[in-house]
Amino acid sequence: MQEFFTEYKTFIVFLHVISAVVWVGGMISLRYAAHPSFMEIESPAKRLERIAHALKRLFTIVLPFVIILLISAIVMIKGYGLSQSEYSIFSHAKEGIWSVMFINLIVMMKRRNRAEKMLGEGDFAGAKGQLEPIGKYMVPLNIILGVIAIFMGAYLSSII
Ligand code: HEM
Repeated sequence: MQEFFTEYKTFIVFLHVISAVVWVGGMISLRYAAHPSFMEIESPAKRLERIAHALKRLFTIVLPFVIILLISAIVMIKGYGLSQSEYSIFSHAKEGIWSVMFINLIVMMKRRNRAEKMLGEGDFAGAKGQLEPIGKYMVPLNIILGVIAIFMGAYLSSII
């Protein structure tokens, strides 16, 4: 793995960084650019429908990058020998952050799917109840965690 990493280091770090850009950047643009615009739609049914649709698009785009982020991280853990190094604490912290972000993403996907089903059945209050925490807490939480992970990545890249 070490030889493979040395050979393809630039490409692996690139995959890692581009995945973080798409995941965290995607969440920021949906939450703070598109979402306020959706809130201007007067019809609650149409508004919820648009939000559920945009979230579906976002989750479909980010999911492959979430996996690439993890694979590139595993290659870097092996390649740099991070687990046995003095920087293992940062590596474990980033693994923890990725895990929380991933679980949060899966829960958001489940809530969104439930909301879409409720919208189809005309249960707008139920759909709102499913979607509201996504915008209020879950996406902002993942943005904060993502920014922390990016900072830790910048720190790691300056010391390893
Ligand atoms: C899954 C556990 C993770 C591990 C083990 C890990 C490990 C690393 C390492 C070793 C570097 C330095 C690469 C180098 O310069 O050669 C790095 C950089 C970076 N990481 Fe992670 N990472 C993880 C998760 C994440 C997550 C969840 C994000 C953001 C969503 C992220 C974003 C970044 C970014 C943007 C850089 C580039 C920083 C720079 O070059 O200045 N990482 N990561």
